[in-house]
Parts: sequence; structure tokens; C-alpha cells
Amino acid sequence: MPAQGVAIKRIDHVRFLVGNARQSAYFYRNAFGFEVLAYAGLETRERAEASYVLRQGEITFVVVSPLQGDHPDNARLAIHGDGVQDIAFEVEDVTEAFQEALARGATAASPPSVREDELGMFESASIRVYGDTTHSFVNRDRYHGVFAPGFKPLDPGRYNPRTFRPVGLTSIDHVVANVEEGKMQEWVRFYEEVMGFSLLAHFDDKDISTEYTALMSKVVQDGPGRIKLPINEPAAGRRRSQIEEFLRFYGGPGVQHIALATDDILASVRALRDNDVSFLKVPPAYYEMLPGRVGPIAEDVGELAELGILVDRDEEGYLLQIFTKPVEDRPTLFFEIIERHGARSFGKGNFKALFEAIEREQERRGTL
Ligand code: FE2
Repeated sequence: MPAQGVAIKRIDHVRFLVGNARQSAYFYRNAFGFEVLAYAGLETRERAEASYVLRQGEITFVVVSPLQGDHPDNARLAIHGDGVQDIAFEVEDVTEAFQEALARGATAASPPSVREDELGMFESASIRVYGDTTHSFVNRDRYHGVFAPGFKPLDPGRYNPRTFRPVGLTSIDHVVANVEEGKMQEWVRFYEEVMGFSLLAHFDDKDISTEYTALMSKVVQDGPGRIKLPINEPAAGRRRSQIEEFLRFYGGPGVQHIALATDDILASVRALRDNDVSFLKVPPAYYEMLPGRVGPIAEDVGELAELGILVDRDEEGYLLQIFTKPVEDRPTLFFEIIERHGARSFGKGNFKALFEAIEREQERRGTL
């Protein structure tokens, strides 16, 4: 019986702590088609950290690097490598949201604070969630600048406009956490009790676990279904699952992938590939079974196969999705590109379909 909880409007931005924010900004601009909107750093009299605000459609990423050895986040950077530090939610009232969260059992990360510059004031506070990840509550109703106090619009001469190739991503569809074995239910309860989210019941499904994926997953979402947060844990006894690998290389629980929505996945994936983004390979055998598995779809299967785009169907429609390779050296954070045609699930049928496609190819090679 959720309903009550912290009143959240939307995901405001995702903050990444990285080793070299300047180079990360270059990567997200030139590979993923984000515009670099604003900057804070030495040139803007910010001496602790360098930050770049990136925007595409409704998606805002902020990449941040410590500038000096005494920055409090240096230790977490050494443990986790580059990764998501904070998922910030826009709220009506920061203090109220923060106090409500604490009253419902959340742990404080930083108390409400107001920052100000000549363009107005900006309020934020944050709570701790899985691992070293936090959720900020932010409100910028009284701020008229580009992002937050301290940030300046980026010098337009910094990037060559001719090197910018948009890829058509529109919004954040979901953000996935990997947590330790046995912890998934705890975090589901946290989001239900603290945030007033509810469990997306039709994804709570035995058939995706153990045999095919070695993971268990549940999805919590806010009331209107704008914010969807799947939570994975490794299935019992599957020591070499991809979730275990993440936990080892990230040094604990954290954000595994962010799914970014597009209205035209064929065009987006073509553009991303032209920008040198690497995607997971799909065995050709996957597409042999596709029409039988998902029924009629508007897209041409040959084109989907050429790009390696996956398809899944639920009771409400179908979805198209594709996963990038990890975007850093550690096998940790990656991205998903997704286009929904009615379906509200997350592609669980693809675990089994991919597994079976690999087996069919092994069979052909006589190695099964
Ligand atoms: Fe996903």
C-alpha cells in the first residue's frame, strides 16, 4: 500500500563521478550525441571539482571530477572507477522531501542547503541508497541560470559544431541497480516505504532467473510510472554471473545501466554506430526465431539483424532494445537504447531467446 511517500516529479539529472570529466564530456558529446551546456571549474572560480552539464532531449547528465587530492570523493573514485554517484529527483519542496524520507527510514547523505548566485537560488539535499549511490532532491523553481549556481554556459568556441552529430535520444526510460545477493527485496522495500514507489508486478517472474540469466530482478516505479528503477541481484549460487562480475569490479552495489529512450531506434543506433559506440553482438540465430516469438512488428527484421537490435513482446505491446558494451575499462556501467511500442516491461524474453540462440549456434559447431 504505497501511495504515500516522498513527492517526486521526475529524474532531474544523473551525476557521474569520473576520473577526467573533460574527456568524459567529450565522449558523451561525440559518441552519444549530448550537447555540453554548462561548466564549472577553475575558470569559474570552482576549485574543488570540474563539472560538465550534458543535455539531450529531456536527459541531463553531469560528469564531475575532483581537482585536488583532498577532495572527499577521491576514495570512492579509486574503489569504483567511473560511475553513477547520484540520481537526482526534482521535488516541490526539498526540505519536506528530505525530512519525509528520513522519517520513513532513509539515511541522510547531505542536509538541505541553498546555493545562490546572481541568477537565483537552488536548493538540494540527498539521501543514501545502495552502495555509495545517493538520491538528491533538487528544486530550481527560483533559479534562472543554465543549471545551478556556479555553472556557466560553455564557451561556444570550445567545441566545433561541425563535429556534433545528434543521435535522437529523448529521455531516461529506466535506471538499473545491481545489489548483493539477498539484498534485492530490501531495496524494493526501501523504495516502497521511503519513496512510495510500487512494485511492477508483471516483471516479478520466475522464468527470467537462474537457468538463463543467473539474476533476479524486480522493478519499482513511482505513481505515474515516469521513474522506473529495476533492481537486480545475482541468483543464488551463480558466482560467475554478470551481476557478480559487476559487484566485484565496481567494489559493491551501484548503477549497472541506464536505458535511454528514442522514437526511432534504427536511426539512433545507426548514428551511435557511426559515432563509434560499441554494442553487444547478437547471434544471427536470434533472428531466425524472432518472427515466431514476437509476432508482427512494424520494423524490417533484416534491418534489426543488421544492427543487432533485440525485440520483446508483453501483453501490452512490443519493445526494441540494444545494449552497449561497458563504457569504461571495468565491466561496470553500460547503456541501453530502447523504443517502446506499448510494452511496459523490460525485455525479459530476450534473456531466454539470446541464450537459446547461442546454444543453437553451438549446436551447429558441434560444441554443445
Ligand atoms: Fe534495461
